[in-house]
Amino acid sequence: MRLLLLLLPLVALVRGDDYCFGQDTSRLQTRQFSSKTAYQIVKGSDIDRQYLVPGCEPKKMWIFHRHGTRLPKKSMINNAARAAELRDLIVNNYKVAKTKPDTDALCSTDLLALQMWRWNASITPDQEEFLTSQGYDDLRGTAKLYQRYYPGVLPKEYNDTYYQFRHTDTQRTRESFRAFAEALFGSDNAAHPVEIPKEDLLLRPYDYCQSYKDLNYKGEGSEYEKYQKASLWTNTLKDISTRLGFQYTLEEEDIKLMYDMCRYEQAWQVDRSSAWCTAFLPEQVSVFEYAEDLKYYWGSGYGFPENGRLNCRLVQDLLTHLNNPTSPHVVAHFGHSTGLLTLLTALGMRKDDIPLRADNSDSQSSRRWKSSLIDPFAGNFVAVKYNCPAQLDQEQVVFFLNQDAVQLDWCSVGLCKWSDVLEKYKTISEADCGEYYCRTGGAPSLGSGLPGLLATAFAAILVYLMH
Ligand SMILES: *[C@@H]1O[C@H](CO)[C@@H](O)[C@H](O)[C@H]1NC(C)=O
Ligand SMILES: *[C@@H]1O[C@H](CO)[C@@H](O)[C@H](O)[C@H]1NC(C)=O
Repeated sequence: MRLLLLLLPLVALVRGDDYCFGQDTSRLQTRQFSSKTAYQIVKGSDIDRQYLVPGCEPKKMWIFHRHGTRLPKKSMINNAARAAELRDLIVNNYKVAKTKPDTDALCSTDLLALQMWRWNASITPDQEEFLTSQGYDDLRGTAKLYQRYYPGVLPKEYNDTYYQFRHTDTQRTRESFRAFAEALFGSDNAAHPVEIPKEDLLLRPYDYCQSYKDLNYKGEGSEYEKYQKASLWTNTLKDISTRLGFQYTLEEEDIKLMYDMCRYEQAWQVDRSSAWCTAFLPEQVSVFEYAEDLKYYWGSGYGFPENGRLNCRLVQDLLTHLNNPTSPHVVAHFGHSTGLLTLLTALGMRKDDIPLRADNSDSQSSRRWKSSLIDPFAGNFVAVKYNCPAQLDQEQVVFFLNQDAVQLDWCSVGLCKWSDVLEKYKTISEADCGEYYCRTGGAPSLGSGLPGLLATAFAAILVYLMH
């Protein structure tokens, strides 16, 4: 004990002012991992003040839920060996080559954590993008939470008229649905999803719209690409390399691999620290976060007006179900990041007055479009419809994003009149989605199939007559 006390000042001296991830108890940068942020870290904490609307009774619920924490893609799993090489190079830099920088070096506990890092060898490429055990917990957690606040809307007895579930055709959304249902109804339940159509235009419209796929959101000339050519970015890569003891700047791919290792591991085990997160200073994480936000802003957000049209069917689904007093009373869809982001864009939520660009990251630090807070693993959008018998406007709704009431300027502290909702989203509710959702080359909706065919036939006749 006495020895330890004697050593303490020495340790402090040796540590200097170097940032130490392993000893940082707040670890605020883990709230900035964009779409790989852990739900538990960023979820809202005010729902106990927001769910109760005096004089109103919650009646219906509509949910769009992103899948929970997942494993990476095959390409990254296959790159685990490269991460091990980088680990050895860094340790070698510090211990053998002695190229540790004079300032901002890794603290000794962080270096040790990195040295001890091993890839979990049970994660193999055949499990790419599978839901992790934390991912199951994410969905069990949200189901339990909403059931606790809305026991009348989310009864514990499953009934397939009352409840309607749907997920996309992937392991991670199917298992997310199962975890959600298990938490609502118990493990031995009869809950089942509706059939997934061959072309899932409701939950994955972005797969069937060529003009959407053609939008340049991260290629040559995009804001994302410009940002990664600017000095802020290149200096950041250089600083990270120097900090890890390299005498040259690492390949961007290597740095992105370390960054992804950090983000995934941190999400898989929320209470522990990923050794790879030691490689980044908090301000460097902010630089990366902005790049991700740019990518999603242009890829799924307000950057291109097309993005807001993609979810025409989903918005109609939301409006139709909540407008109708009959069952299903609860509709829950389990989908993906792109679905959630383009839904919010269709609804005009989290919109900034000034577009996100490569050259304005400085002035965008309090932007509304923060993918980390909007679209973490298990990110979810929930609309709760209330009936308020004593009020002039008997129908009201609260929109929750990650269990935090969405503030809209046409609503009152998160509470929106249903008539205003219908008015605001009139363009979409009255649209023919087959036409509206995709500028060109989209698959026609079933609804517009007949008129579409007629139009084609008509055009053919005209062409015939003109000849
Ligand atoms: C390693 O991965 C497997 C498969 O995903 C998982 O079940 C296990 O909990 C992981 N082990 C650790 C120590 O994280
Ligand atoms: C299921 O719910 C519907 C609508 O709430 C109700 O009319 C029906 O009686 C329920 N069925 C069963 C078997 O409980």
